[in-house]
Order: sequence, then C-alpha cells, then structure tokens
Amino acid sequence: DFRLPNHSFLKLLDFAAEDISALLDLSAQLKQAKQNGNEPRFLQGRNIALIFEKASTRTRCAFEVASFDQGANVTYISGGSQMGSKESVKDTARVLGRMYDGIEFRGHSQQHVEELAEYSGVPVWNGLTDEWHPTQVLADFLTMLEHGNNRPLNEFKLCYVGDGRNNVAHSLLVGCAKMGVDFRIAAPEGYTPTPELLALCQPLAEKSGAKITVTQSVEEAVAGCDFIYTDVWVSMGEPIEAWDERVRLMKPYQVNTSMLEKTGNQNVRFLHCLPAFHNDETSIGQEIASKYDMSGLEVTEDVFESKHSIVFDQAENRMHTIKAVMVATLGG
Ligand code: CP
Ligand code: NVA
Repeated sequence: DFRLPNHSFLKLLDFAAEDISALLDLSAQLKQAKQNGNEPRFLQGRNIALIFEKASTRTRCAFEVASFDQGANVTYISGGSQMGSKESVKDTARVLGRMYDGIEFRGHSQQHVEELAEYSGVPVWNGLTDEWHPTQVLADFLTMLEHGNNRPLNEFKLCYVGDGRNNVAHSLLVGCAKMGVDFRIAAPEGYTPTPELLALCQPLAEKSGAKITVTQSVEEAVAGCDFIYTDVWVSMGEPIEAWDERVRLMKPYQVNTSMLEKTGNQNVRFLHCLPAFHNDETSIGQEIASKYDMSGLEVTEDVFESKHSIVFDQAENRMHTIKAVMVATLGG
C-alpha cells in the first residue's frame, strides 16, 4: 500500500510523477472500495482541522466526507478564529499541531500554508491558495483517466483556455509537465502562465515527454484535443473591477459549441473545476453577461449541459482524491 508518511501536500512541484501516479491509483482503489461497500478505515479516531479563509463547496465537503468515510473527526474553522487577526500563523500552527493530526488550509497566501506545515509538525494539505490548487489537479487527472478508454495520462491532449495565469491553470501546467501530457494553454496576452513557471516546467516536460504549448490562438490550441478545460475569468480574492478587462480579452476564449467543433473530435470532453459562472442567476455573473451581451461567460450553458461535459464526475472525484491524499500522508 502506497504511503507518504507525515508529508504535507502543498503544491505539485514537491511530488515526483511516481507519487502522483500512486495517489491516483490509491484514489481509484478507495473509490471502488466505497462503491463495493467495503472501504477500509485508515483514519479511525484521527482529528482533522479544516481552515477556510475563502468560500468553498467541493473542497470543504470533500475533506469532510472523506474524513467521515475514513473514521476521522473534523473541525471546520472559518472566521472567528484568532488566526490572521490576533495570532500569527506560526503560533496557530503550533497550537493546532498539539490537538490535530492533520490540517487543511484554504486561503490567500501560499506562504501561510507553507508556514502551517513548517510549524505544526503534522501533515498540512493545500485546499487552494492564490498560487496553487494541487488537490484539484488530482481529481482532474482521475476524471480524465476514467473517461480516456484506459489510456495513460501521457497519451492525452488537454487544452486549457481562458485565464492561464491563475491557481488552477498553473497547477495543471505543473501536473501535465510531470505526467507527460500534451498540454496546451490558449490565453490572451498578459494571462499566459508566468515565464518563471514555464522555465521551471521545461526540464520536467523534457523528462516526462510532455509537450507544453502556450498560444493566443484557440484554433492551434484545441486542434485534436481530448479534453477542453476552463475556469472562471476572475478568481476569488481578485477585485470586481477586474471583470471589464477580463471579459473584453477573454471573450474569444469562451468554451462554446463552435470551440468544441474546432477540436475536430466528436468525443471531446469538457472539464471545469467549478463553480462556473454560466448559471449564476443571482449575482455578478448574470449582470456581467448581460452587460457584454454574452450568453454564459467562460462557458455557455449548452456546452455545460451537453453530453461532452463531465464536470460533475470531476466534482465527485475531489472527494476520492482528497481521501487518498489524507490516507497516504496520515493513514499509517
Ligand atoms: N473546485 C473547487 O475547489 O470548488 P470549491 O471552491 O467549491 O471548493
Ligand atoms: N481559480 C478559481 C478556482 C476556484 C475553485 C479561484 O481561485 O477562485
């Protein structure tokens, strides 16, 4: 049984391709065991803290349900704690480390999740920061494997369109570089991955056989691909004022029927980490869409609801993959 005892899971750059593969295998095994009704409980009696500075549906619920399935107890901490106001991250880490066996953190600062890991003495898992979203990519890869007719990751062509500089895009880039994926990013100027990260990924891609393409051309990027992936154009924590420029620049990168046709692949699948703005009827999403006379934003409703869309398999897989991360790092 694969284990990474006492490891934290802070960003994919810290993990070898073999470890990522093994985590995906473990996820699939735990998923199967749950479906068969014979899931072994590796986290019986463990206590887990879940810190959320930013909103969440999938990540929070995935950590909670995975913990319950595995016999662990959780404390959800969102606002109301001393951390970040009256108490430093370093002190919070040392307090929580005395009580908990593992800590999840979602928030703004990557440095904070790294500090929690350094000072708590227990495994810390990154549930999203401004910089990275590493558990998301495990779920994305598991979903691709499930829909990929038993092909390995290094036979897939994945195309990400839209904001190529956010936590999800950057994490996918690292994951694909490590796992040998043919990965394309189509994004407008100023929103392609940072040159620093591309330079870091270059040797990883050479080692794995990954092909990394960064372009402003949707046609070039989507041609022949198996999967199209997008994310929101403005991420949590970014100012509302960002919308005007983003919509103007990213409109050509909207995932719609015409983009799917440009792949030339009738079986192309659509991925989105969610939440998506396309069906946001209550707030800013709808307002912006109508201001710019758009149907949907980063994705249209018809693609989202089409047979191409596998976004809810992806959402479910957040739970199975997060469970694998906790079991591997804490499961004895
Ligand atoms: N994909 C994702 O992280 O979703 P939540 O923000 O709902 O956790
Ligand atoms: N890039 C998005 C991902 C949400 C899961 C954000 O950070 O808001």
